[in-house]
Amino acid sequence: MRKPSRVTVTEVGPRDGFQIERDFIPTATKIELINQLVGAGLPIIEYSSFVSPRAVPQLADAAEVLQGVDRSRGTKFAALVPNAKGAERAAEAGVDEIRVFVSASETHNRKNVNRSVEESLAGFEDVMRIANEAGIPVEGAIATSFGCPFEGEVPVAQVGMIARRFRDLGMTGVGLGDTTGMATPTLVAERCRYLREHVPELPIALHFHNTRGIGLVNVMAGLAEGIDIYEASFAGLGGCPFAAGATGNICTEDLVYLLHELGIETGIDLERLCGAARHVEQVLGRTLPGQVMKAGPRLQLHPLDEVATAVG
Ligand code: COA
Ligand code: ZN
Repeated sequence: MRKPSRVTVTEVGPRDGFQIERDFIPTATKIELINQLVGAGLPIIEYSSFVSPRAVPQLADAAEVLQGVDRSRGTKFAALVPNAKGAERAAEAGVDEIRVFVSASETHNRKNVNRSVEESLAGFEDVMRIANEAGIPVEGAIATSFGCPFEGEVPVAQVGMIARRFRDLGMTGVGLGDTTGMATPTLVAERCRYLREHVPELPIALHFHNTRGIGLVNVMAGLAEGIDIYEASFAGLGGCPFAAGATGNICTEDLVYLLHELGIETGIDLERLCGAARHVEQVLGRTLPGQVMKAGPRLQLHPLDEVATAVG
């Protein structure tokens, strides 16, 4: 498999990142940050969720946020939806893409959406009907695709079974979510090959968390398999509130930096993206994991008098 020459980077920080923030980020601030991401050239932003506002109060303003964002530049606005009610709200708000989600693990699915995997999948039929009527494409995300913090190993056949159901329902893609950073390069290769073989119709997106420090190593494994869609959060925000030990997504700027240094196009302006990452760090008032936003690009040179000379 050849490494792709161009990769689609999906920004998920405003959803996967903001959802775990306890203090409500004002709607106007969310809009400002999202518009900076639009300005940096992100092609797709998973910008919020239409879930129960009691489950995730931070994202209760999903419809209002969409009213304020810059839709003139062709950035697609995707939202996460768990059920028919979410699909109705998302369609009414006017999202460009709906993403349904279900866990490969029964226990995490119950924690996350209070139902069995089978019940989630059955509910997606209604989601598809609503989305089809509104002309909105639907992608499916599989949480805990590489392991579950409650159950441990997740069989690849279970991931494959869900992906087949997504295909049969008429979804346009499948995302493998590594909810608590349990993916390894070996598992990435295994799962991508399995899906390629058994569900070749569905493009695969990879969604890694950097919980154990090998998020970008897993991207390298995905690239080696020819995968050309990756999800990431600006400044490395992120984490699922309903999974033990969940931490940040791989960081969008660090990912874009890596891809550009590998000669892979993204269409993203790294400098502007770093500006958005530094801004969200200011807004949240704490140091965030992103590294390139702090260090700058590789060839950013420093004045000689910036640091002292060592004298022995
Ligand atoms: N948007 C808004 N409200 C919703 C909703 C949606 N998508 N789905 C359900 N609700 C409301 C119902 O209308 C009902 O309200 P009421 O009590 O005022 O009548 C209430 O929530 C309970 O509905 P029910 O279908 O019984 O839901 P539940 O309590 O079993 O919860 C979910 C199921 C899926 C709604 C909830 O677990 C959820 O939103 N989970 C999201 C988790 C998440 O975002 N995780 C992070 C992403 S990986
Ligand atoms: Zn995630």
